[in-house]
Order: sequence, then structure tokens, then C-alpha cells
Amino acid sequence: MDLADGTFLMPGLVDLHIHAPQWPQLGTGLDLPLERWLFDYTFPLEARYADTGFAATVWDDLVPSLLAMGTTTAVYFSSNHLDATTALARACARHGQRALVGRVAMDHPTGTPEWYRDATASAGVEASAASIEAVTAVGSPLVEPVITPRFTPACTDALLEGLGELAAATGVRVQTHCAESDWHCGYALDRFGASDPVALDRFGLMLPRTVLAHSDHLTAGEMALAAGRGAGVAHCPLSNAYFANAVFGVRRALAAGVGVGLGSDIAGGARPGLLGVCQDAVTVSRMLEDGVDPALGAPQRGVPESRIDTVTAFWLATAGGAAVIDLPVGLIESGRAFDAVAVRADRPGGAVRLWEGLDDDARAFEKVVRLATADDISRVWVDGKSVKQ
Ligand code: GUN
Ligand code: FE
Repeated sequence: MDLADGTFLMPGLVDLHIHAPQWPQLGTGLDLPLERWLFDYTFPLEARYADTGFAATVWDDLVPSLLAMGTTTAVYFSSNHLDATTALARACARHGQRALVGRVAMDHPTGTPEWYRDATASAGVEASAASIEAVTAVGSPLVEPVITPRFTPACTDALLEGLGELAAATGVRVQTHCAESDWHCGYALDRFGASDPVALDRFGLMLPRTVLAHSDHLTAGEMALAAGRGAGVAHCPLSNAYFANAVFGVRRALAAGVGVGLGSDIAGGARPGLLGVCQDAVTVSRMLEDGVDPALGAPQRGVPESRIDTVTAFWLATAGGAAVIDLPVGLIESGRAFDAVAVRADRPGGAVRLWEGLDDDARAFEKVVRLATADDISRVWVDGKSVKQ
């Protein structure tokens, strides 16, 4: 393979948390808190995926768009529709994106609207099992199913329990939202008399390779629990600024032995490209470290030693995410699949400008992570196959 001068080869990006059906509302609707955003904007949109033709149109726009931004592995929440979810798995296979694809399970009588829910807990478990079979039957080595209880407020105990049993019986990975916001955490405490992560663990959903989206509000003890179970966190920095009421402490989580990767959280996060999410992760870590209220004195304002740099953020977006879901990607080395992106610096009109005698490799890397756009990503490979050129 020949790369033009000024082209950087990097591992492909692993986006640990994407809501595929929310793609049409990207960039809109972030004026409401999570619990109202779901009912007013998101559930009505997701309900439309009962129309598999509509779903296929969206998937055929979403998947190539994300590949063009360098997302070589995508961990998807689909809608609760079996056919639309199978169509998403097919779209990933056809366009050549490595993906985990999960049919969303949700049945709670108050946590979901009656026009967008599984009819009963057992119907939700059966449809989840059927979706595992259907996604597997797509027959692509790139695409696997993932068991996907939306989050505790949207699921009855019977559904959470049934999905825990399904995970134990099949060994299929689990993903869900965990301890995302003050409201989510308060809800779990009220309902379970235990925190959200502890409840997930009791239902058998906190397992090796479980992806816990957000998890901003984990205590030290809950981080130890996740680490002990081998569950990891999808850190979604931009979405958290709107919904989470807090900044996730990446450094604390890594120090506690919790696996961490990055997620765009499309469309709670309005930035689909994971390089941009790297910059968001760096930025919010600085705000966590210093704090934000100037009325407080500097010593009271922030959480010391919270900052991460672009190297750590890029590591989260590649090797860190790959480790959470235990896929052999995220690094360019023998023994791993060749999932990679080529970024062209110094392209006429491009976003990344390098200066002779000023920009060594470390600075060039920092510029690429902070500045490169989809237009600067000249080529993308998944499993050695070119998917953008
Ligand atoms: N919690 C439950 N559903 C969702 C969702 O679609 N997005 C986010 N960010 N949080 C959720
Ligand atoms: Fe989410």
C-alpha cells in the first residue's frame, strides 16, 4: 500500500455508543432534559422504524457517513423493531462496517409510551432472542448482536431479569445506559432501593464486555464493581453536557481498573465523528479539573488531576474501546484485524496544516486528532478491505 506524503495511518475509530434511529434528529432537540427529550422527540422518531423501508433509507445514509468519518467499529442501539434491526445489521455488512447491533428492549408502563414498547416482558425477551438469531443469520464476520435493555426506567424487573438470563444462556454481549443523570440515578434508588449499577448487576446484566453508556455518576464502590465484573464505560462527553448533570471522571475510572472507550451518543451528542469526540473528551476533562463556577475560589472549583490529553483520548477512541468489547481492533499490529484510517495533512483546503521545522510527529498527531474532518480522512479500511477511497 502506498500512501501519499503527509498521510498518517492510524487505527480505525471504535464508537461504543450510537443510537442509529436518532440519526435524522442529529443536531436538534437538545433543549429538554433527558426524560422529556425521550418522550417528546426521541420515542416518536424511533417508533417510525416500524416502517422497514424508512429504516433502510436511514441506515444507508448513516453507515457510509460514519465510515467516511473513520468509525470502523460501531456499537449500535437500534429501535425496538426486529426487522429494522436486522436491516441495520445488513447495512453494516453491505457497507463493510464492523458493528454490534442491538434491538432495544423496553416495556415499562410508565417509562415508555404505549405506542413504542414491547407488549410484555416475555415478548421483549423473545424479540431480543429472535434478533440475536436474525443478526447472526446475516452471516457477516463483521457484525454481531448485542442484548440491549434501554435503561432501567424503560424496563420492568421481569424484562431486566429475562434479558440477564438471555445473556447468561447465549454469552452475547450486553449494552445499556447506566447512572447517566441525576434523574436516572434518583429513579433507580427510589425503585430498587439500590443504585442503578447495583440493580443492573442484580439482574445479571453487569458482565464481562458489557457496555455501560455514560455512567457519569458511578461512586468509587460502583467503579470497583464494574471493574470486577469486566464491564466497561462508553464515555460520551458532548451528550453528557446536555443530559448528565456531570462530567465523567475518565482518570478516576481508569485508575479503578474500569475499561473506558468513547461514544458519540448520536443524537444526544450532536457530533458524529469520533475524532471530534476525542477533542470533546479532552475539553470536558479540563473543565472537570478546573471547575466552572468563578464564584467559587480556585481550590474549591474543580477535581484535581482530572485532565486527559489528546493521546489518551485517541487511545480511548481506539484501543480502549476495543478492549471494552473485546474485539481484536484498535491498534495496528500483527494479530489484530487491519481496521485503519489514512488522514491527509497539508491537503489543499484541508483542516490540518503542518509547518516545516515546527511540527514534529507529536504535534502533527495532536493536530490530526483535534482538527481533521471527514474530508481530511482520505481512506478507511475495515478488516483489510477498503471502504472509503
Ligand atoms: N437513556 C435512555 N435512552 C437514552 C437515549 O436514547 N439517549 C441517552 N443519551 N440516554 C438515554
Ligand atoms: Fe445513549
